[in-house]
Amino acid sequence: MQYLIGIDVGTSGTKTVLFDTNGNALASATEEYSLYQPQNGWAEQKPQDWWNAVYKTLHAVIEKSGVENKAIKGIGISGQMHGLVLLDKNGEVLRDSIIWCDGRTTRECREITETIGAKRLIEITANPALPGFTAGKILWVRRNEPEIWAKTAHILLPKDYIRYKLTGVFSTDVSDASGMNLLDVPHRCWSDEILNLLKIDKALLPKLYESCEVTGNVTREVADLIGLAEGTPVVGGAGDNAAAAVGMGVVETGKAFTTIGTSGVVFAHSDKVTIDPEGRVHTFCAAVPGAYTVMSCTLAAGLSLKWFRDNFCKEEIAESKEQNVDPYYLMDKEAAKVPIGANRLIYLPYLMGERSPILDENSRGVFFGLSAIHTKYDLLRAVMEGVIYSQRQCFDVLREMQVVPKTMLACGGGGTSPLWRQMMADVFDCPVATVANKEGPALGVAILAGVGAGIYPSVAEGCKKILKYNPAQNAITENSREYKAYYQLYRTLYPALKDRFAALAEL
Ligand code: XUL
Repeated sequence: MQYLIGIDVGTSGTKTVLFDTNGNALASATEEYSLYQPQNGWAEQKPQDWWNAVYKTLHAVIEKSGVENKAIKGIGISGQMHGLVLLDKNGEVLRDSIIWCDGRTTRECREITETIGAKRLIEITANPALPGFTAGKILWVRRNEPEIWAKTAHILLPKDYIRYKLTGVFSTDVSDASGMNLLDVPHRCWSDEILNLLKIDKALLPKLYESCEVTGNVTREVADLIGLAEGTPVVGGAGDNAAAAVGMGVVETGKAFTTIGTSGVVFAHSDKVTIDPEGRVHTFCAAVPGAYTVMSCTLAAGLSLKWFRDNFCKEEIAESKEQNVDPYYLMDKEAAKVPIGANRLIYLPYLMGERSPILDENSRGVFFGLSAIHTKYDLLRAVMEGVIYSQRQCFDVLREMQVVPKTMLACGGGGTSPLWRQMMADVFDCPVATVANKEGPALGVAILAGVGAGIYPSVAEGCKKILKYNPAQNAITENSREYKAYYQLYRTLYPALKDRFAALAEL
């Protein structure tokens, strides 16, 4: 028997899973770590914490599964995108990583846009300069921490630091590199034009690979430390969303998924490069060689519901402990009793500002239409509906770009709620299904490792062999009609409030 390992270096923790080549998870281990917020709006993590978590979880899955290490034919790494890791010439970490949800680079993003030109930047990198992306973070360190910048010899993304620790090579893959604002996305190579204009030395950047290409091999030192076999191949891997796409079989045109995790993602595969000239959604290289993805990222999807749970659902939390169920399960049951439209209440989910399809750090959450008749559960239902309207607004941009999925797969914590899935089907007017295999990005990169190791002939073939789907929930025509009226009103609220949000931010 042969085995593959998938490692997912996430924001709350690292999950490592050992699979057989039929995609059965034989052993899994997760290790959490902290997020540091040295200032309001900043977000950092310690690369050493990621490595400790990878080391521990790799060791654990090898021990738990009892497989012979030589039978492990490949390792794939997935990770949170955009984070900046800086190493000196000896490969030592120079500062904590500034990660994807850090918002300190407004000034640097403006500078990038002015230097390159807004239109040209989107033509080359397929995206506008966004505070979450890596280039702004590089410019920030150069401006504010020149002593660190002077020592910088290598720029890496989070998962690529792990690759360096495992193999000693400085490499990345095109899907993750797409989120740096430095890649020529249509041509899948670093953009000399952008690097020259921003005065970033190309020698600092990692070597680029497709996601299923072998980038290096586990060193003897690490093999001895962890219990892996020396020389085990490590493939390019992918950014977490591109990896999740492979883990769900979203590797062909017409396939798409929506994640309701902390953030909300609508992600579709496309065989050709399709760029929104307004930059409302991201175009990235896919983990499938030569293919692309179009993706939106809203900042407070599951986070909105978590906020509601933590502030207003103490009773449900207590009750859930007694019944030994998830509090969200009880909240779902209550929300299901409220009619569509939450008794004329609409929620805008901008608790963290917003990225897609409106880029506005000043926007904030709103309950529109609040009346004395409303109960807590009307508010709860409005929160769930508002999150789905915000995903629909992203979905509309994809449709405008002629990226038209036939079925939507639901994943993330929100994807486990039948109520949320039905809302999605009704509001998107599209069947919504789920994947039976639950390992997401870790499975996705294990499939990529299998392609790199020659076990599967292609990413699509690997997915076909492994993935199983649950039946889809279809849109209910009457529900879709009712939601439509609310959604149309929802769409008008942000434009009406845009300058009011800016005024609020000035107070
Ligand atoms: C994608 C994005 C997040 C991170 C963290 O653009 O910012 O999905 O990859 O998961």
